[in-house]
Amino acid sequence: MSKELGNVLLGGGSGFIGKHLTSLLTSKGYNVTIISRMPGASRISWTDLQTKGLPESTTAVINLAGQNVMDFTQRWTTGFKQNVFNSRVKTTASLAEAIAKAPKRPKVFVAISGVGAYKPNDKEYTESSILENFDFFSKLCIEWEKAACLPKEVTDCRQVIIRSGVVLGRDGGMIKQLYLPFFLGLGGPVGSGMQYMPWIHIDDLTRLILFSIENNVEGVYNGVAPTPATNKEFSNAFAGALSRPAIFPVPKFVFNALLSEERANMITKGQKVLPQRYQEAGFTYNFPNITVACQDLVQKKA
Ligand SMILES: NC(=O)c1ccc[n+]([C@@H]2O[C@H](COP(=O)([O-])OP(=O)(O)OC[C@H]3O[C@@H](n4cnc5c(N)ncnc54)[C@H](OP(=O)(O)O)[C@@H]3O)[C@@H](O)[C@H]2O)c1
Repeated sequence: MSKELGNVLLGGGSGFIGKHLTSLLTSKGYNVTIISRMPGASRISWTDLQTKGLPESTTAVINLAGQNVMDFTQRWTTGFKQNVFNSRVKTTASLAEAIAKAPKRPKVFVAISGVGAYKPNDKEYTESSILENFDFFSKLCIEWEKAACLPKEVTDCRQVIIRSGVVLGRDGGMIKQLYLPFFLGLGGPVGSGMQYMPWIHIDDLTRLILFSIENNVEGVYNGVAPTPATNKEFSNAFAGALSRPAIFPVPKFVFNALLSEERANMITKGQKVLPQRYQEAGFTYNFPNITVACQDLVQKKA
């Protein structure tokens, strides 16, 4: 471990990805301070950040904060959408501001964004693809990434934006919700299942974040596995890992009715996204294909 990069400040570190990242970073010898709305040991609040700035000797800053979009108990109302937006854009902007004002800057700022930045169609997307503002999620990603931009005069802090795909882990995100129906043999593809589902195993995402802290990388990176999978390929791989069939397709209209079409599009439509820049930078994936990733998820304890 680089001694210079010892103290990590982690927005949203109490969540699914944050917990996995904290355990990876601490296992490597980093100290992690979480920014949370809830008090606790090794935590500060967003108000502390705004009033007191970055904790002394912060060497890396990461933001993973954001209201859970797929919280199905929440209706897709204007108010909830505002919360989804603000919880990402404002927290990211607060961190960028604190970094700009810090008397001694951290070496790196890693901000997460999403593949919702890319319009679902037949294209193959890399980081150099042009983004379009075509719906709520693309606008969110564009504003989220803009909020992460440090002022031009800040030249001593590397900036990395990771456009993450669906993160696959046994204890959170999509798999936590799908585990039971698939375990009961009731799983299947969504709609035709032909839509791509950009995905990444949780261990590889946290390793990508660590890689971004420890290596001289900068700019936008797609945080997805190198082997894209369609929704049907994912369903077959996950059901297969559980030794179950995946024969019950869920029609699109069910998701549209349950989640509202705008939010359901994240599942019913998809993009083919490639992690060109991480591969060029020499990152090696532990879970490059969906079959191996699903087998690992099923073997892990919840
Ligand atoms: N999971 C995925 O598949 C995936 C894919 C692409 C991108 N991402 C992005 O990665 C980030 C982390 O995802 P995750 O799956 O770890 O999410 P998560 O488990 O829901 O955790 C997000 C964290 O954000 C904080 N948070 C929630 N609502 C907030 C609000 N209104 N204001 C400020 N902070 C709030 C919470 O921390 P406190 O309660 O401690 O404040 C929470 O622990 C999110 O921004 C998400 O959009 C996730």
